[in-house]
Amino acid sequence: RERKMYMACRNDIHRYDAPFMAVYKSLIPAEEELEKQRQLMAQLENLVAKEWPHAKLYLYGSCANSFGFPKSDIDVCLAIEDDDINKSDMLLKLADILESDNLQNVQALTRARVPIVKLMDPVTGISCDICINNVLAVVNTKLLRDYARIDVRLRQLAFIVKHWAKSRKVNETYQGTLSSYAYVLMCIHFLQLRRPPILPCLQEMKPTYSVRVDNIRCSYFDDVGRLDNFGSSNRETIAELVWGFFNYWAYAHDYANTVVSVRTGSILGKREKDWTRRVGNDRHLICIEDPFETSHDLGRVVDKFSIRVLREEFERAAEIMHQDRNPCAKLFEPY
Ligand code: GTP
Ligand code: MG
Repeated sequence: RERKMYMACRNDIHRYDAPFMAVYKSLIPAEEELEKQRQLMAQLENLVAKEWPHAKLYLYGSCANSFGFPKSDIDVCLAIEDDDINKSDMLLKLADILESDNLQNVQALTRARVPIVKLMDPVTGISCDICINNVLAVVNTKLLRDYARIDVRLRQLAFIVKHWAKSRKVNETYQGTLSSYAYVLMCIHFLQLRRPPILPCLQEMKPTYSVRVDNIRCSYFDDVGRLDNFGSSNRETIAELVWGFFNYWAYAHDYANTVVSVRTGSILGKREKDWTRRVGNDRHLICIEDPFETSHDLGRVVDKFSIRVLREEFERAAEIMHQDRNPCAKLFEPY
């Protein structure tokens, strides 16, 4: 296959800033939706507190990381500091409690990779998954939200990328493509590496936040209110960044040898992580390091078939951004 690397953006790129901004704005959830989520959360907190007074409920995932689309389901983590709980028993008990409070479609999935209770709230129409003690997900949700507060271009870029990935069906981990979480990390990393940078590397700065979760120390600079001018010497706009992002993943990324790392704000070698060969089901064909669980490659789901699909989609997107007359419509054409 012919590989080309475009060195410069097309010279009419700024014509597309307004249409991309319109797409971005259309994807921001309305305030009423957030209010409904808070309402359901309050109800759940009430129910849980009656049975487990020391437990806490946290929102995580797209409903809390500021990269959520309208009408998303919400992800909730029940955190309880008790060494001898049995997760399955607790989920079954929780399912009973929820059902007797008129929540619908209540289902305990105790054998799933991440065991959960599912439910639907008939009042707000919101569906919800509750897991137990998945605290790392709560902490990485906070990291993403904190990055989003530094420069609005992260949220703009990530919304466009997620919308593209969903439209093109490359946001399906069970089919070997990447999770939304992986795409947001790719966007953060891309903005850390712009010159001048648009985002800092929070984990390389003096920590102001530090917690220990499942034996992993999670610490970083979270006083992001003090960083809101960080990216201001870089004047790149949304259309340029969308172009640059797809150009990078289509033509510039070294898939064979490198790992993208938000934790270090740099590109690492596969060798130093020992991700050079297949181990079990982890093939490491595209490597994205989890910022806290550093032995975890978010590209592990990608296999030799889906890597081709993914790379062809990156190339298609880069090509559209480079020369299509209406990139904003073409990029999101349903697969
Ligand atoms: P959408 O539902 O697609 O809008 O996005 P989402 O942000 O909810 O993403 P996703 O469903 O991919 O993941 C939900 C949350 O689970 C993420 O925000 C992470 O906190 C966590 N998560 C997802 N995948 C992983 C993973 O492989 N490792 C870890 N540690 N956390 C993950
Ligand atoms: Mg989700």
